[in-house]
Amino acid sequence: MQLLRSSFSFLCLFVLSCRVLADTTYFQSSEYASGALGSGPFQIFKSSSSTPSAWNFVVPYNDSTAGQIESGLIFIAPRGTNVNSPGALIYDKSGNLVWDGTRFGQTLTFKVATYKGESVILLWTGTVAGAGVGSGYDLILNNKYEIIANFTAVNLNGSLADFHDIEMTSNDTALITAYQPKTWDLSTFNIADGWLLDSVAQELDPSNGNEIFTWVASDHVDPNTCYASPGTTGTSADNPWDYFHINAVDKDSAGNYLISSRHCHAIYYVAPSGDIIWTIGGHNSTVTMNDGTTFAWQHDVRWHNDETQISLFDNEGTAWELDSSSSRGLLLDFDASNNSVSLNQQWIPYNVTVSESQGNVGILDSGNTLIGWGQVPYFSEYDANGQFLYVVQFGVGDVQSYRAYHYNWTATPNTRPSVSVETSGSNTTVYTSWNGATEVATWQLSGSTSDSPQLAVPISNTSRSGFETAISVDSSTNFTYFQVAAFNSNKKVIVYSNFTASDGSQQDPAANQTVESSNSSGSGSNSSSSGSLQVAVNSRMITSVFLVLWIFHILL
Ligand SMILES: *[C@@H]1O[C@H](CO)[C@@H](O)[C@H](O)[C@H]1NC(C)=O
Ligand SMILES: *[C@@H]1O[C@H](CO)[C@@H](O)[C@H](O)[C@H]1NC(C)=O
Ligand SMILES: *[C@@H]1O[C@H](CO)[C@@H](O)[C@H](O)[C@H]1NC(C)=O
Ligand SMILES: *[C@@H]1O[C@H](CO)[C@@H](O)[C@H](O)[C@H]1NC(C)=O
Ligand SMILES: *[C@@H]1O[C@H](CO)[C@@H](O)[C@H](O)[C@H]1NC(C)=O
Ligand SMILES: *[C@@H]1O[C@H](CO)[C@@H](O)[C@H](O)[C@H]1NC(C)=O
Ligand SMILES: *[C@@H]1O[C@H](CO)[C@@H](O)[C@H](O)[C@H]1NC(C)=O
Ligand SMILES: *[C@@H]1O[C@H](CO)[C@@H](O)[C@H](O)[C@H]1NC(C)=O
Ligand SMILES: *[C@@H]1O[C@H](CO)[C@@H](O)[C@H](O)[C@H]1NC(C)=O
Ligand SMILES: *[C@@H]1O[C@H](CO)[C@@H](O)[C@H](O)[C@H]1NC(C)=O
Ligand SMILES: *[C@@H]1O[C@H](CO)[C@@H](O)[C@H](O)[C@H]1NC(C)=O
Ligand SMILES: *[C@@H]1O[C@H](CO)[C@@H](O)[C@H](O)[C@H]1NC(C)=O
Repeated sequence: MQLLRSSFSFLCLFVLSCRVLADTTYFQSSEYASGALGSGPFQIFKSSSSTPSAWNFVVPYNDSTAGQIESGLIFIAPRGTNVNSPGALIYDKSGNLVWDGTRFGQTLTFKVATYKGESVILLWTGTVAGAGVGSGYDLILNNKYEIIANFTAVNLNGSLADFHDIEMTSNDTALITAYQPKTWDLSTFNIADGWLLDSVAQELDPSNGNEIFTWVASDHVDPNTCYASPGTTGTSADNPWDYFHINAVDKDSAGNYLISSRHCHAIYYVAPSGDIIWTIGGHNSTVTMNDGTTFAWQHDVRWHNDETQISLFDNEGTAWELDSSSSRGLLLDFDASNNSVSLNQQWIPYNVTVSESQGNVGILDSGNTLIGWGQVPYFSEYDANGQFLYVVQFGVGDVQSYRAYHYNWTATPNTRPSVSVETSGSNTTVYTSWNGATEVATWQLSGSTSDSPQLAVPISNTSRSGFETAISVDSSTNFTYFQVAAFNSNKKVIVYSNFTASDGSQQDPAANQTVESSNSSGSGSNSSSSGSLQVAVNSRMITSVFLVLWIFHILL
């Protein structure tokens, strides 16, 4: 069965119908949900080789809910055997691609933070080990998508940054996770020459990689007090026992750390000395847990509301154990005066199910909440009362995203827009896209001839639509080369593309085609909110079912 499934995905890549048109979104599509469109339906473009997952709005938004939806962009990083090109993706809220960051490869932590006063992207890059931990580097990208920092764990006998978390503090330091194999006495488990996979939280200065703080789990939490026994692990450096499984680190205004251990079902509040001040959950909770607050195998533990609340994703299960019928988003009130937590709110998934790994809870300023369901390929936005506003599915089968986030993100890439010219009979269509640009309102198309390829003659203006805009050219013109200029909503030019011919040959923009700001890419203003909400009426929505795929589907 496993073999058949993978050959099915393999075929999908070569059966045209598995690909869907550019900027295509599905709505309550049973073909999508059943896998009839393939396990990972993806979009294709003329001007870009990107193949982002196409979305299916399982619960679409409508006239009455659209006004409540928070503006901003969606950050996910699909991965899994049914994902065509794993990695970081930004979408608008209609399911149109904004940025394809898959050149950095498969990633888990992918979010926006403030660093030195600027909005930046935090992105983990590296290798995912079978044990569910990572080894790599943490990047900070500015709003031109340039790498401004690249750092990793230090002084851990060669262990590098793990993928589970990167968090910026208000002091421009980074909190990261790491895993370190070490020898350990596991004779109580009848394992001779035992190995432990220790969990580490580190605070670093991203500008120079210097270590500020390191907390090693085994110095403070007895490996015998958690929920994942060694099983077949613990026998070698390559097969160590991951007793703690760190997956989130936060820091508060008092300078203490909040550390999440999935395998201990616990949240530890840690002083700069490393000592544990209190523990919520697990076998040894020192905080009173009131009704409905127990959690298991959790992710994404964060402080909220001036450190009076803690949010987390309560998986309620793992690959070898289910503790409940559903995962949930969870918000706990923390009362420091009597050392207790109480249930404030919980968010139950649309498709009540246990997500055995990953997942996150993003409480937004408006009171809305965006939840990423981790191992199951869904995210959903809720209003302040916990009602669904919409639910999006972004794949079928083995498609997962460690987290799903919602940010206002404004960026102007340091590249030029891509242009592809297609001629069919007397018709010419110019396709254009600019990977990562959030500020383009209008594309101005110009043409030129092979006599003076750099002499732009304006032809038309077209509103940007989705990731790729298709512009038809009047067949009475005799232009050989085409160029686009991107205009922002203030009608200022942001960038000029190369001049491009239908055979793909290119000419640079003219010397006088410079833009006002300091360089050709524009300075990427950081002011206004990007992409105001686009209501999900997608004229290019397609719902065709393809016979060939149906046959494959039925055969399998
Ligand atoms: C709009 O969507 C919400 C949430 O799915 C649903 O409860 C409501 O009935 C819908 N309203 C209309 C008019 O379709
Ligand atoms: C980050 O730094 C490491 C170590 O120097 C390097 O191997 C890696 O290629 C860098 N990552 C990127 C995306 O440049
Ligand atoms: C450091 O790593 C090496 C190679 O994996 C290992 O042999 C050694 O035991 C480690 N040292 C410590 C102190 O963990
Ligand atoms: C920031 O630095 C100040 C001064 O060192 C310290 O008191 C504070 O706890 C730090 N805050 C964070 C979040 O690291
Ligand atoms: C933690 O809880 C376990 C199980 O309840 C108990 O056996 C152990 O002694 C406790 N450890 C500490 C340090 O309190
Ligand atoms: C602690 O205080 C909260 C209200 O702040 C209350 O709900 C709770 O019952 C109190 N006691 C315990 C043991 O949680
Ligand atoms: C709900 O989840 C189950 C288990 O993952 C899956 O089999 C089913 O297809 C899902 N239903 C929908 C409507 O997504
Ligand atoms: C984006 O900015 C708008 C306007 O300031 C704000 O209402 C909204 O809450 C922000 N969205 C996010 C996801 O922060
Ligand atoms: C524009 O042309 C230059 C060569 O002159 C090339 O390096 C660059 O990749 C082209 N840009 C795009 C977006 O095609
Ligand atoms: C040219 O475009 C027109 C209008 O979009 C269309 O009807 C016609 O079929 C096209 N011709 C060719 C040869 O593609
Ligand atoms: C295009 O070329 C044809 C044939 O050379 C010519 O008759 C026509 O006037 C040209 N059109 C334009 C707009 O220059
Ligand atoms: C660049 O120079 C050409 C030729 O002098 C002129 O036609 C064009 O308008 C100029 N373009 C800009 C953007 O100034």
